[in-house]
Amino acid sequence: MERFKKGETFRFGIVTAGAALIFAFVVLQEAVVVQSKSPYSWAKFDKFDEITQRMDAVNAENCASKSKEELHLPETTVGQVPQFNRLLSTVIYPNRTNLLHLHNMALNRAFFYSYVFQKLNETHHFKYQPGLMYYYFSAAADVSANEYNINGSGIFFEFNKTYPNWYRNIAINHTMLLFGPRAFRFDDYNEPTNFLREPTNQTIDVVDYGAGPQNNYTRDTYKLNEWYFKWMPDGWGKKGLDSIKKHNYNVGIKYSNETGKFTTDEFEGKTFYGPPFPGQNQQNQKQVFQPVDFTRPYFDCGRSNKWIVSASAPIVDHLPRYLEWFHLRRHWITAASVQDIDFLSVDFNPCPAGIGNPKSYLTDISRCKKSTMCEPLYGWGFRRGGYQCVCLPGYRYPPWQRGPFQGSQIESATEEEYERGFECLPVGLKQVIPIIRGNGTLGIGRSKRSVQKKQSKIEKREAKGPVIDKEKVEKRSIKALDGQSKILTKQQRFLRSVDLKELQYSYNKAQEMIESSQRRKRKVFVARYKRSTNAKSRSKRATFDKKAHERMQDLLRKKESVTRDNCHEKSMDDLELPGDVAYGVQKQFSNQARTALRLSHFLSNFLQNIDMYEEYGNLRGDKLLNIELLFGEALANVMGDLKLHGSGIFFDRDKYVGPDGKTRQLFGPYAWRHTKRGDDADQANKNYRALDKAGLDEAYLEERWFREVKERWQSNTYGLTKYTEKPMIRSDINGTSSKKFELYPLYYRAPEEDDGWWSPPYFSCGGEKEDSLGHVNDWVVTYSVPFFGKNSIGTALEFKGVVTVDVKLETLDLNQCPAEFYIANAFKNTARCHYESTYVSICYYPFLWSMTPSCSPSF
Ligand SMILES: *[C@@H]1O[C@H](CO)[C@@H](O)[C@H](O)[C@H]1NC(C)=O
Ligand SMILES: *[C@@H]1O[C@H](CO)[C@@H](O)[C@H](O)[C@H]1NC(C)=O
Ligand SMILES: *[C@@H]1O[C@H](CO)[C@@H](O)[C@H](O)[C@H]1NC(C)=O
Ligand SMILES: *[C@@H]1O[C@H](CO)[C@@H](O)[C@H](O)[C@H]1NC(C)=O
Ligand SMILES: *[C@@H]1O[C@H](CO)[C@@H](O)[C@H](O)[C@H]1NC(C)=O
Ligand SMILES: *[C@@H]1O[C@H](CO)[C@@H](O)[C@H](O)[C@H]1NC(C)=O
Ligand SMILES: *[C@@H]1O[C@H](CO)[C@@H](O)[C@H](O)[C@H]1NC(C)=O
Ligand SMILES: *[C@@H]1O[C@H](CO)[C@@H](O)[C@H](O)[C@H]1NC(C)=O
Ligand SMILES: *[C@@H]1O[C@H](CO)[C@@H](O)[C@H](O)[C@H]1NC(C)=O
Ligand SMILES: *[C@@H]1O[C@H](CO)[C@@H](O)[C@H](O)[C@H]1NC(C)=O
Repeated sequence: MERFKKGETFRFGIVTAGAALIFAFVVLQEAVVVQSKSPYSWAKFDKFDEITQRMDAVNAENCASKSKEELHLPETTVGQVPQFNRLLSTVIYPNRTNLLHLHNMALNRAFFYSYVFQKLNETHHFKYQPGLMYYYFSAAADVSANEYNINGSGIFFEFNKTYPNWYRNIAINHTMLLFGPRAFRFDDYNEPTNFLREPTNQTIDVVDYGAGPQNNYTRDTYKLNEWYFKWMPDGWGKKGLDSIKKHNYNVGIKYSNETGKFTTDEFEGKTFYGPPFPGQNQQNQKQVFQPVDFTRPYFDCGRSNKWIVSASAPIVDHLPRYLEWFHLRRHWITAASVQDIDFLSVDFNPCPAGIGNPKSYLTDISRCKKSTMCEPLYGWGFRRGGYQCVCLPGYRYPPWQRGPFQGSQIESATEEEYERGFECLPVGLKQVIPIIRGNGTLGIGRSKRSVQKKQSKIEKREAKGPVIDKEKVEKRSIKALDGQSKILTKQQRFLRSVDLKELQYSYNKAQEMIESSQRRKRKVFVARYKRSTNAKSRSKRATFDKKAHERMQDLLRKKESVTRDNCHEKSMDDLELPGDVAYGVQKQFSNQARTALRLSHFLSNFLQNIDMYEEYGNLRGDKLLNIELLFGEALANVMGDLKLHGSGIFFDRDKYVGPDGKTRQLFGPYAWRHTKRGDDADQANKNYRALDKAGLDEAYLEERWFREVKERWQSNTYGLTKYTEKPMIRSDINGTSSKKFELYPLYYRAPEEDDGWWSPPYFSCGGEKEDSLGHVNDWVVTYSVPFFGKNSIGTALEFKGVVTVDVKLETLDLNQCPAEFYIANAFKNTARCHYESTYVSICYYPFLWSMTPSCSPSF
């Protein structure tokens, strides 16, 4: 009984306690509801939130059931895309270089395939056309060599326009219905071999979009094929657009069939049709067909499952191929080359629209206060806070604020913080009354002393020994005190002008913010502030260096002294500049280097994985690389990037084996932009030349860009990066389903960008002839990167040759700003910034202005 009672009371106790708790909870909640204004509610729902919401609504599980509109974002969420007809006349800011590279790579592939389809047009060429693995490896190389730019690459053929040479039972003039090989970076964090559980970024999936269920990417209902409808279907009905949707390019090639000799004296000409070519002077026309089109951002459903943006360029072929009746053939857009970038890594400009910032979907979502002006920051991608607020003219930062207000801090501020802070203070008038002496000449009170006077003083001092002039000391200290009091009154005046309480409050807040961020070790973006302190300390140490300036003048004079007409008479020394003249090439031309790197990855992949004797039943194995394809690759590098002047592939001695199994001693296809005197830029971008450098008298093996790289990699291939590639091919010709390729996965080892070598600037001297055999007749810098294949018995990797790209020196922007002593830059410390006169002067690195530094006072 007792126990039971006890239990009862206990239970009763629990019940009452529970009721009390619930009551308390309700009361508390009410209280919360009463003052439920979150400190962050000042930040209103905006376009950025809208986009994030739309993106959050779609994921890998539900995307298949979403409508087309739900899988796309508004077109202008990616603004300021590069336009081909403005590339030479506008500045590409760092926030758009990634998109530009994407643009160029799409163009590169479009030129390559257009060229080889039309060049290898004869029946007996059919087997030399790219094989199945050629398409796969080319796409994989686009991805593996462009780690920071490109995450997907593919080619999509129009319906019933693919001529496959890799199926035994398809006749030469028959077509396959759908074919779309695409590679994309695979997030391999969950692979059994990846014990770090972190994406290595080195696994690449390659699939055929034409295989499996729902493979008809040419359909309107496919949802994610905007790149297809930009260019296709093409047909007779659209003839009117032919002249602007396609353009013909001229290529001249000089072949060589043995070392030191060319097959012909003349360049063998070929005109082929490729992507549209809006000239650089066609800027004001209403409808311009750009060669590269950017799609809206879309969700890559079922493949990489990410939001991506694609750049696509058209590939042109002369169809129907291998038909005897020429009048029935015409140039069709048969495929699109498509390259993708993550939407999240594309910068946008959150500032209000204005000059340099045309209106886009995400303009004007920054939260700068009235007294400040918004500036975009680059490298932020699709994240909040990619801006900073700088003071408007007539305003200055409060004394505790170092540098502009950072967007990231504004966006994370509470309402109270936002209302009271992030505001600049008006600049008060500062008048200096000139001191007028004597008869009215301006000057500061400092009497001139004659030499005699000085002399006599010294003599006196020597005679008397050290004497302290009391009067002077007194005067001085009074002066000092005076100065201090002046400063004090200035401060007081300032303090009086602002609300003291508010000031104290904001000051404390700012301190707190700085402290808390330091505590949390979070990286706060304090670029300007950091820069300014550096500049300040630097300005004392290293300002304007006269010697360096003289050396610069000498170098420039030397550069100017060599011309096309006199370069033949100059010595080797005169044709070279020191390496530190090309300071900054690695960074400024990183994308050009990556163009070479892509080719090196492709060649390495091909030479390591393709065996000419491998056949797979109905599926033919790839033939070894033939001369035309390699010429095409070199040409495409140059054609795809207006900054490149030339590009080449140079095989080491006895390393090139053709499809016939014969080894050539040397093979070095080199392509370049062909200009005659007086040609304009458009002319140069339509005419190309290429030659096999094996035919020249002097062998390229002795060139420095070849030797340097060969010496490093010839005997030791340690340090290459291993890439994994997972090719899925169609199970049968109709593409009923997808299956793994016979070799799965494939591996290849290839270099990275840093494994290549940038040459010092040199004058590429061709002389007065129009066909200067590949010489630019200008100062150039060359990047060369090695490629590797299996050795003759297939046991190990060996050095096979180098891929090079040439850029003209004049396109390099100089940096004349002060720098540390160990920076090898011939032009450092030659900017005439007035470090003494402004409080802190920043020498901006001029990525926009060749040869003109800009000095600007900071806050
Ligand atoms: C292939 O192209 C060349 C050069 O453009 C042309 O002369 C030739 O007639 C073409 N052959 C075929 C079969 O199309
Ligand atoms: C594909 O094209 C060929 C002619 O090149 C034609 O004979 C065939 O009917 C076409 N196939 C389809 C499914 O349209
Ligand atoms: C393919 O070529 C053969 C022989 O040259 C010809 O009989 C046939 O009609 C051609 N087929 C097509 C689709 O062009
Ligand atoms: C892969 O790429 C991401 C983003 O570019 C980078 O943060 C990460 O460190 C990379 N992983 C490796 C192993 O390099
Ligand atoms: C694919 O789509 C195109 C265009 O809608 C259509 O003409 C064609 O018949 C379709 N092909 C197949 C195999 O479904
Ligand atoms: C190279 O071509 C020329 C001209 O066609 C020919 O005379 C010569 O025999 C060829 N040399 C070799 C090694 O094939
Ligand atoms: C590419 O993919 C990696 C790994 O999935 C990702 O971290 C990176 O941001 C992507 N980069 C670009 C430029 O799309
Ligand atoms: C890129 O930066 C420039 C210069 O700061 C700016 O004018 C432009 O609006 C920026 N573009 C984007 C998309 O952020
Ligand atoms: C002021 O005095 C200086 C010398 O003391 C003389 O050279 C100058 O001419 C005078 N200027 C005027 C305006 O009187
Ligand atoms: C492919 O489809 C066609 C008709 O659509 C059929 O005649 C042919 O047998 C199929 N081929 C294979 C390998 O399934």
